[in-house]
Amino acid sequence: MSLAMAMAEVSPYSYTRFQNLPSNLSSNPSTAHFFQKRRSSFQHPHRPPSICCSVAPSQVESPVAPVLPTDAASNRECYGVFCTTYDLKADDKTRSWKSLIRVAVSGAAGMISNHLLFKLASGEVFGSDQPIVLNLLGSERSYQALEGVAMELEDSLYPLLREVSIGINPYDIFQDAEWALLIGAKPRGPGMERAGLLDINGQIFAEQGKALNAVASRDVKVIVVGNPCNTNALICLKNAPNIPAKNFHALTRLDENRAKCQLALKAGVFYDKVSNVTIWGNHSTTQVPDFLNAKINGIPVKEVITDRKWLEQEFTERVQKRGGVLIKKWGRSSAASTAVSIVDAIRSLVTPTANGDWFSSGVYTNGNPYGIAEDIVFSMPCRSNGDGDYELVKEVVFDDFLRERIEKTEAELIAEKRCVAHLTGEGNAYCDLPEDTMLPGEQ
Ligand code: LMR
Repeated sequence: MSLAMAMAEVSPYSYTRFQNLPSNLSSNPSTAHFFQKRRSSFQHPHRPPSICCSVAPSQVESPVAPVLPTDAASNRECYGVFCTTYDLKADDKTRSWKSLIRVAVSGAAGMISNHLLFKLASGEVFGSDQPIVLNLLGSERSYQALEGVAMELEDSLYPLLREVSIGINPYDIFQDAEWALLIGAKPRGPGMERAGLLDINGQIFAEQGKALNAVASRDVKVIVVGNPCNTNALICLKNAPNIPAKNFHALTRLDENRAKCQLALKAGVFYDKVSNVTIWGNHSTTQVPDFLNAKINGIPVKEVITDRKWLEQEFTERVQKRGGVLIKKWGRSSAASTAVSIVDAIRSLVTPTANGDWFSSGVYTNGNPYGIAEDIVFSMPCRSNGDGDYELVKEVVFDDFLRERIEKTEAELIAEKRCVAHLTGEGNAYCDLPEDTMLPGEQ
């Protein structure tokens, strides 16, 4: 970038380009001082730092013209190349693209996001005709890494990626979000009680629920990944009363994928032959991978795998504890497969479910047909016609084993809910979590 070009971009709305000044400019004392002065004079006094980009929808001739705010969302400032305005309307006339979709991601500097963001930007999630905006939420501690993520997104030259913003304030980052992928959460530290983890992460999700309620699209779809994800999702939705509770999901798709893989392995078939797998309940070691209703090549699993003992014990435990086994191997939680399962979870909501099949998601219980306690977030079999919404599947059967297991995971979720009553607006918390209650990674 020439100095003249850089100078031409000095405007109240494009200052963050100067955070990325080439070293030859920033090492020049007078130039660096000039930019530094401009930058600091444009900082909002009451907001933590955030960097946004904004591809103005208006026709803009010059790629170096300042980006002017047109509405409230323009409070965000832009990042790097995304600060440049493009004549998108003219550009889009040559393509049959859908209108922009705005996706907010928390924990955006973490490992899961590092896999996920590039899938989102490439078009493999929402489609090759779906231009996308990424609003990335990090923390003060992760801010530099967040800039690194934004730089890598810049360098990837994704045609569908039209805007990127980064920041640490959910009220900025969730503005107008149509999807919110809530990945960021504190991992359980040494000596931390599960109740402590629920409280710390619960506070994060209470705040994020409030922020979504205040600034996100009224139809935002929220997928909670940060653990304990079911109860975090419950906290989040309780703090967002203006968004339908049905729009909140806790990610159990990774567990479903793990269950399919184990069944395929045992049956000696490729995993695309396994269908109708439900994960019931909590994303914890009490989750119930349902082999009773699952199918292999369209045939009930029980007829293909006749070893009932394996199904009840080994299969069930393997799925429940897969996350923990992975942590031992990797030294950290699963990241790539979690990102893939987030993609699967989104695609299951934006594409019609295959005839006769279903997918698992942790959803709010409100009139469920299975007799599961209401007012918790419980993983159940869902089906979608591809409009982002879902309905619960009715044609499932239960036996004593399945019922008994479901009751155990249900009891755990009810106990977790009591434990976060102070965060859901339901009075004083009372924590009596069952002793063996664990995240998949906590053995
Ligand atoms: C997973 O299932 O891999 C993770 O949820 C494990 C964990 O506890 O972080």
